[in-house]
Amino acid sequence: MRIFLTGATGYIGSAVLDALVRAGHQVTALVRDNEKAARVAARGAHPVVGSLSDPESYRAMADAQDGYIHTAFDTSSTGVANDRQTIDALLAAARRPRTSNGLNGAPRFFIYTSGIWVIGRTSEPADESTPLNPIQLVAWRVEHERLVLEANDAQLRTAVVRPGVVYGGGTGIMSDLFKMAWNGLVRVIGDGNNHWPTVYDRDLADLYARLAADDSASGVFHANDEGDETVNDIVSAISPYLPHKPDVRYVPIEEARTKMGPYADALALDQIVRSTRSRALGWNPSLHSVGGNAARLLEEWRASRS
Ligand SMILES: NC(=O)c1ccc[n+]([C@@H]2O[C@H](COP(=O)([O-])OP(=O)(O)OC[C@H]3O[C@@H](n4cnc5c(N)ncnc54)[C@H](OP(=O)(O)O)[C@@H]3O)[C@@H](O)[C@H]2O)c1
Repeated sequence: MRIFLTGATGYIGSAVLDALVRAGHQVTALVRDNEKAARVAARGAHPVVGSLSDPESYRAMADAQDGYIHTAFDTSSTGVANDRQTIDALLAAARRPRTSNGLNGAPRFFIYTSGIWVIGRTSEPADESTPLNPIQLVAWRVEHERLVLEANDAQLRTAVVRPGVVYGGGTGIMSDLFKMAWNGLVRVIGDGNNHWPTVYDRDLADLYARLAADDSASGVFHANDEGDETVNDIVSAISPYLPHKPDVRYVPIEEARTKMGPYADALALDQIVRSTRSRALGWNPSLHSVGGNAARLLEEWRASRS
C-alpha cells in the first residue's frame, strides 16, 4: 500500500516506519530537512521535505497515497494549530476523488495519534469506551479526535490510537526516568503510587501496521501493555541493574506544577487502562511491563545513547 507518514524521525513514527517497511508498504515520509530525508530514505521510505505548518509543502505527495498515518507533533507554540491543520489537509487528501489507481475500491484510511491522557484519572480499568476526561495539557485533543472519528465513512476508514507512555530505545518519558535513575537521583511527581499505562515502542508500531492492513478497523484503539505498574514499581524494578541504588525525591504536585506547568499533572496521573479493541484485532504486545524487562530495557537505553 502507498502510505503517507508524518513524524518518521520521531520516537513513535520511526518505529512505525520500520514496521510499515517490514510489512512491504511503500512509505512516503514527511521530514523537515535534507539530513532527515537521507535518514528516512536509509530506512526504506521515500522522503518529502516540508512542514506540518505548510500543507502546500506536502499536498502533492499526500494526494498520491492510499493511507495516512499522522504521528508527528510540533512542540512549538503553534503545535496544536499545526496538528489541526494537518488533520484537515490529510483528510482532504484522503477524500480526493478516486481514479483507477490505488486500492481497487477498498476504503482509504487515516490513523491519528492521540494519547491516553485524554481519559484522565481512572477509578477502574478504562477501555476505549470510557468517557473522556482529559487533563488540561491535552484538553485540545478531544476535538481533534472527534474530527478524525467523525470523518469515518464508506470511503474513508479513520482510527485514533491512544498510546500509553512509550518505552524502548533512548528517548521519551521512560528514558528520562532511566537517565535520572542511572545518575543516582529520581524525581517522582507525587507519591509514586500512581499507575502509568505503558507500551513498548515496537509493539505500538505493530498496532499501527495492523490498523493499516485491517479494512475493518476503525474507531479508537488503546495501546498499552496492561502491566498496571506504578512509578514506584518501575523505579524498584530497574534499581538492581543500575550502578548504584538511586535516591528518590518525591516532589509534591504543587511544587512540580510551579516548575513544569500542567505536564506535572500528566506525570502524576493514576491510570489503569485496557486495550480491549486493539486486542480484539489480534494485537498482543510482546512485552508486558517495564519492570519485567528492566535489564533488557536499560541495556537498550544505554546502547541507543552510546
Ligand atoms: N512518546 C510517548 O510516550 C507518547 C505517548 C502517547 C502519545 N504520544 C503522542 O504521539 C505523538 C508523537 O510523539 P513522539 O514521542 O513520537 O514525539 P517526537 O519523538 O518528539 O517526534 C515528533 C515528530 O514530529 C516531527 N515534527 C515536529 N514538528 C514538525 C513539523 N513542523 N513538520 C514536520 N514534522 C514535524 C518531528 O520531526 P523532527 O525530527 O524534524 O523534529 C518528529 O519526527 C505526539 O502527538 C505525542 O503527544 C506520545
